[in-house]
Amino acid sequence: MSSESWLPASSRLRSRDFLFGVATASFQIEGSTEVDGRLPSIWDTYCDTPGKVTNGDTGKVACDHYNRWAEDVDLIESLGLDAYRLSLAWPRLITRDGKANPKGFDFYKRLLDALGEKGIKRFVTLYHWDLPQWIEDRGGWVSRETAYRYAEYVDIATRELAGRVEAWATFNEPWCTAWIGYAAGRQAPGHTDPVLAIAAGHHLMLGHGLAVPLIRRNDPGAKVGIVLNLQPATAATDTREDRHAAKLAEVGQNDWFLGALLKGEYDARFFELRGAVPAIVPGDLDTIQQPLDYLGVNYYFRAYVSAAGAHDYKDMPLDGVERTQMGWEVYPEGLTYQLVTIKQDYPNLPPVYITENGMASDDAVIDGEVEDDSRIRFFERHLAAVSDAIDAGVEVSGYFAWSLMDNFEWSYGYEKRFGICHVDYDTQVRTPKKSAYWLRDFVARRS
Ligand code: NOJ
Repeated sequence: MSSESWLPASSRLRSRDFLFGVATASFQIEGSTEVDGRLPSIWDTYCDTPGKVTNGDTGKVACDHYNRWAEDVDLIESLGLDAYRLSLAWPRLITRDGKANPKGFDFYKRLLDALGEKGIKRFVTLYHWDLPQWIEDRGGWVSRETAYRYAEYVDIATRELAGRVEAWATFNEPWCTAWIGYAAGRQAPGHTDPVLAIAAGHHLMLGHGLAVPLIRRNDPGAKVGIVLNLQPATAATDTREDRHAAKLAEVGQNDWFLGALLKGEYDARFFELRGAVPAIVPGDLDTIQQPLDYLGVNYYFRAYVSAAGAHDYKDMPLDGVERTQMGWEVYPEGLTYQLVTIKQDYPNLPPVYITENGMASDDAVIDGEVEDDSRIRFFERHLAAVSDAIDAGVEVSGYFAWSLMDNFEWSYGYEKRFGICHVDYDTQVRTPKKSAYWLRDFVARRS
């Protein structure tokens, strides 16, 4: 038994049936955006738009994972991890006329086979934000048609890759796709209209509902789920108005999709809050409410909210707290709160995987080493928070650190480093940080 005191000796996280892994996403690591028939994605367009991405960074090379995938698989193996969460690039896999692109599939077949041969469980996300540009040109997620194009892509992809995947996820963080991409404009495609975001959100859910039965039919041995970024909101003061505003903030981010997925209904407070309702065709919510094998939860930090009007709220600055390189508060208690709250609000909650958790820090290699002690402390505290949620009755089956390696952090470019392995973007050398060895040693000592 390990002597580490940050986690109770009895914690389920100390047993080998709790899965530990690392996560990445296609556009953030692959590079090679113009080879083997890959089509442009909305992120290529966004990167090419001046002023959108810090330092004008693009995904053209990224971590060159498209060429270095074998080395990266060895890296995961060397850390002794149980699982790897990756995403497929839709623009690599489907041609303009809706057919499979064999070269794109060959890449993922090689990668998934290499992982499988090493006994690493494959958690594959079908959509992590890189929508083909030609689909955006036809309206993107604002158009209902996109849900059907997505289902066609999923049908082809899961038939091609059946038997090579332990767990599928239909979407990563649909809230970011819809809200940040279509209302806040801080991610591709960069629109700034809440009405568009609400339509996009519904079509993402519809795409999910259409996709799940196809995945089950095509790859019956695999689990099927979806990944949401859930965020707790704390009221700035204890007034009724601020508490109400905090509740609405949670409804707006979490219950928007949880309600549709797990209850077959949208929370009416959400549309009231946003002042818009999407075009829902009768039967849509039945399509969306599919049985799920798991829910993926990505957790980073909490919102801190005060009332700014009858039906709105605003995020407040929070003074004197520990922050990451992103400026995000380190708040592990929020993860326990979030997990316990969704278990209470959604009694039919399926088992949960923490599909992302991690922090950015301004890491550098000095004498061959990266001393990221703050990341180790971050993992310890968040794993203890997961353990607390399990003790409180939430079924959590695994934890994925974000990320395997430093990568393209969307509109922040390469400046923000989330990896447990450092990437030198001039040489593409990967250097495991101290936190990678810490994770390796923790995982190795499980009973
Ligand atoms: C969530 C996203 O899924 C991932 O792509 C991103 O890099 C991390 N959060 C960190 O912001």
